Amino acid sequence: MDNIRIVGGATLAGTVRISGSKNAALPILAAALLADGEHVFRNVPNLRDVDTMTKLLERLGANAVYRDGRVEVSLSGSLDPTAPYDLVKQMRASVLVLGPLVARCGRAIVSLPGGCAIGARPIDQHLKGLSAMGAEVELTHGYVEVTVPGGRLRGSDIALDFPTHTGTENLMCAAVLAKGRTTINNAAREPEVEELARVLNKMGARIEGAGTSAIAIEGVDALHPIDHAIIPDRIEAGTFMVAAAATAGNLFLEGIGFEPLEAVIVKLREAGATVEREGNGIRVVGARPIYPTDVITQPHPGFPTDMQAQFMVLMSLAEGTSRITETVFENRFMHVSELNRMGANIQVNARTATVHGVKRLEGAEVMATDLRASASLVVAGLIAEGTTDVRRVYHLDRGYDQFEMKLAPLGATIERVPGNA
Ligand code: UD1
Repeated sequence: MDNIRIVGGATLAGTVRISGSKNAALPILAAALLADGEHVFRNVPNLRDVDTMTKLLERLGANAVYRDGRVEVSLSGSLDPTAPYDLVKQMRASVLVLGPLVARCGRAIVSLPGGCAIGARPIDQHLKGLSAMGAEVELTHGYVEVTVPGGRLRGSDIALDFPTHTGTENLMCAAVLAKGRTTINNAAREPEVEELARVLNKMGARIEGAGTSAIAIEGVDALHPIDHAIIPDRIEAGTFMVAAAATAGNLFLEGIGFEPLEAVIVKLREAGATVEREGNGIRVVGARPIYPTDVITQPHPGFPTDMQAQFMVLMSLAEGTSRITETVFENRFMHVSELNRMGANIQVNARTATVHGVKRLEGAEVMATDLRASASLVVAGLIAEGTTDVRRVYHLDRGYDQFEMKLAPLGATIERVPGNA
């Protein structure tokens, strides 16, 4: 397994182009199952999770090919509505095929994702919504089997207990081909949900209100394939923003707007960084001292849980004490012990991490435990004295498009070391 080796101390400077959004690409690729014909998706990031999704689409009976930022998905004929454990266990977002399969085939058998490193992550809200639309749900042998008597879902009023992101996406996809009108209340408001609705509407769906907490979907009889370019990745952009702030650097992030990152930008400014709109992107200039800043993660438009680990690295060098509270996932502080091994001073009590700023971090061998934790360890490596080896880098490859190749031209001393070296 590869490692990422970083020699810390560089001040990042230059321009970085932001890739297409992982969390938009995955539901959009799954949504291609809703229409026969040839779809083309552009600006698709080159990621292991995208590879897993294309493999899953192939297993279900589609043709799906990734080439140079483009995925072509074509469907004709019948689908095998079974998402097997070997793929679902690699990527929890595989569950995103559930809604499209139930809508399309009147049936889906999807392996339960099970626990993962950042918490239990059940899918009860996805299933509750499908049941409200008339589906029968059975759990057998680690699989969830969803069957729609009569084959077609019917529109229904759904109220989510929590604005689950992929749950909202699954239910939107299920409802677009249902008979009648569906409303999803307490829906997730993430930009990727809005993007999925844009894609579905382009395919012929009738969705209103995506991006707000009340989504209304008027079911239609059929959808058609489309050609679509995917929005930029706000979490990749946020990660580069933190890297600029932490290294007292000066980065221009090309191709990303302010709006999806407002909560992160507010906190970066509180921490002392300058963040400005510029042309078709955002400029971030880091400064010293770094001011301590409290953060509470929330569903969008709050501070994203997917930026919590990276922001904690910045706070580890602040002049004073910050409190970082994680409310979205129950177990998302595994990076803390690795950061403490690098000289950070962080204590976790229940859902809050108290970060006492230190003067410097030291390079160390560290282990990535999940996707965003691995990005945080790379950022920590950039600011640490000496060499940091980040192990289990496959987590990083799940969600960052050529991270080290993008950092190197900005001045980072960073390389990928093959696992057996
Ligand atoms: C998505 C994102 C992920 C991000 C997360 C929160 C994708 C592919 N992944 O994950 O990057 O970190 O949103 O912004 O878009 N929950 C339930 N029951 C459910 C569904 C969720 O209890 O049926 C709980 C989860 O355990 C978790 C919380 O709700 O504690 C948030 O989960 P959710 O919003 O569903 O996250 P994902 O959609 O899995």
